[in-house]
Amino acid sequence: MLMSRPSLLITRRLPASVLERLRASYEVTVNPDDRALGREALLMALRSFDALSPTITDKLDAALLLNSGLRTRIIANFGAGFEHIDLEAAKRANLVVTNTPDALTDATAELTILLILMASRRAGEGERLVREGKWTGWAPTQLLGTDVKGKTLGLVGFGRIAKEAARRARAALGMRIAYHSRSRASADEESALGAEHHATLESLLAASDVISLHCPGGAATRHLINANTLARMKSTAILINTARGSVVDEDALANALAQRQIAAAGLDVYEREPAVSPALRELENVVLLPHLGSATLEARTAMGMQMADNLDSFFAGRTPPNRVA
Ligand code: 8YV
Repeated sequence: MLMSRPSLLITRRLPASVLERLRASYEVTVNPDDRALGREALLMALRSFDALSPTITDKLDAALLLNSGLRTRIIANFGAGFEHIDLEAAKRANLVVTNTPDALTDATAELTILLILMASRRAGEGERLVREGKWTGWAPTQLLGTDVKGKTLGLVGFGRIAKEAARRARAALGMRIAYHSRSRASADEESALGAEHHATLESLLAASDVISLHCPGGAATRHLINANTLARMKSTAILINTARGSVVDEDALANALAQRQIAAAGLDVYEREPAVSPALRELENVVLLPHLGSATLEARTAMGMQMADNLDSFFAGRTPPNRVA
């Protein structure tokens, strides 16, 4: 007798080639609205589908995962970060959880470089000037930015994306590399990137011209960048965040930027997405992007394929390659 195909709910629209592949092996349902599912809908999904593929916009907390009568056995997250899923609750509910850590490294590192350049060369300000019809013509001291060549890029966290951003910043921009992370990289890795290790965050902040955040989100890193740590940065420093909004106290950052305690910031993620603090939106010296880190067709396709690999392994009775719980 043929086994029936597992049912899979995908909470947001994914690239066509990903859906095509998944439809070959699963009974796929895609949320037709392409909007975040509410709690009721998520609970219904957990009770009705064998597998769930959520994204960052679906909060799967203990209150949801510890409900009775769940049918779902695997949560195959579309994305590298998974702090929106309570892993402890998932384990207690006998749910396997996977993520897609490799697929978006290039795209997110690329976006880090984009933000470094946009913030250092005041690209957002320049664009607004032209679009608003306020540009009065070239002038020798107009919108002067700063070179990044020879400057120090300080990475907070030293995982895949941080290392790839370091490689690119070094090779393409001529920047020096420094980092602080929970675990120190090997001597070989440090020397390949010319990366100088700092034992404390404070020391890295004081030594860097550009600080770029690459640590995971969640309780352990909440408000790592706050009024105190911002005060350790150079007054000429630029802060880049392509990691998670929760890592930065957004009000403290807006204040530091307004007071010119630091020079500029480039942000792709926010504390209360999609809300962005009005104080930040009013400032000229901050570049604000709408969580575009992995937003390339290549990356989103590769994320979907990595997610499909995880599902295929699970339903073939193997341990999925990117199991996190
Ligand atoms: C995704 C991300 O857009 O993968 C991540 O951790 O932040 C982004 O690249 C989003 O989280 C997908 O769920």
